[in-house]
Amino acid sequence: MQAKAIARSNIALIKYWGKRRQKYNLPAVGSISITLDRLQTVTDVGFSSSLEKDRFTLNGHLVENEQLERVSRFLNLIRKKAGFNDRAQVITTNNFPTAAGLASSASGFAALTLAACKAAGLDFTKKELSILARQGSGSAARSIYGGFVHMYRGQSEDGHDAYAEQIATEKDWDLSVVIAITQALPKETGSTSGMVKSRETSPYYDAWVETGENDLKAMKAAIDRRDFTHVGQLCEYSCLKMHALALSTRPAIIYWNGITLDVMHTIRQLRKEGREVYFTIDAGPQVKAICRTSDRQAVQDRIQQIEGIKQILTTNLGGDAELID
Ligand code: PMV
Repeated sequence: MQAKAIARSNIALIKYWGKRRQKYNLPAVGSISITLDRLQTVTDVGFSSSLEKDRFTLNGHLVENEQLERVSRFLNLIRKKAGFNDRAQVITTNNFPTAAGLASSASGFAALTLAACKAAGLDFTKKELSILARQGSGSAARSIYGGFVHMYRGQSEDGHDAYAEQIATEKDWDLSVVIAITQALPKETGSTSGMVKSRETSPYYDAWVETGENDLKAMKAAIDRRDFTHVGQLCEYSCLKMHALALSTRPAIIYWNGITLDVMHTIRQLRKEGREVYFTIDAGPQVKAICRTSDRQAVQDRIQQIEGIKQILTTNLGGDAELID
């Protein structure tokens, strides 16, 4: 009744923003991501009939608030499938800043899904794990896999066709990501409430959903032919389109700070100088610069010089979520 798993965070090259159905966290658009080796969550789950309620420890601190409720609600799905009602002790550690737009919910729910299913005696396929992880957090469905990952929007009301699949492994293409942390505080608007507000108020929302499939097709083709220029251009396009949606939400959702913009301009300047690097930004102020591994040191050295950068993390692409001892 006990198991431990590791999962890595991911960043979307083609972004997910908006839900077609709130209930099962069903995305309005598909997405494509890369899994990041350096950003890891390790989660230990133990079910026990002697526990009165779920206990959730995050980075050494016992969590009592809505975060605990979110974990408990997710564990209820697993308890229902396993046919028992034991409460669980969940111990989670992230080796990177939590809730600062580095997708801790992606690696967090992927690791929790894998460990909790194993502890509950459920022997699920990766597709089933991905479907389950999605119900914890949309992007977590992608962190079940390493490398390059495609998350399908699906059509069904119950979500059986909204899952992720690997399209290339982390070993197939040697890319790196340089993460510029511009602010260490948690984000102001969470992705869930942000997505609801964008759907309700942005005049661009329908266009966002309508154009999503084309972006996915183009990105998939660019990855298949290992066309870094095209991957990078599409990645920036999807990122800016998603942020345009956030900016046009009422009230406006502005995830960037001044340093975020400085990093974006520096990356564009590096390209003018002949160094191929592209940015992407999620629901927070941190910038992820994607480049070939041979350019990583030069990109890092340059971003490091920008005033106000709090921390830089660099990473290769990472592998599948897995059980550990
Ligand atoms: O998985 P969620 O609900 O935290 O949403 C993720 C949203 C973005 O990170 C902004 C985009 C993405 O596709 O990961």
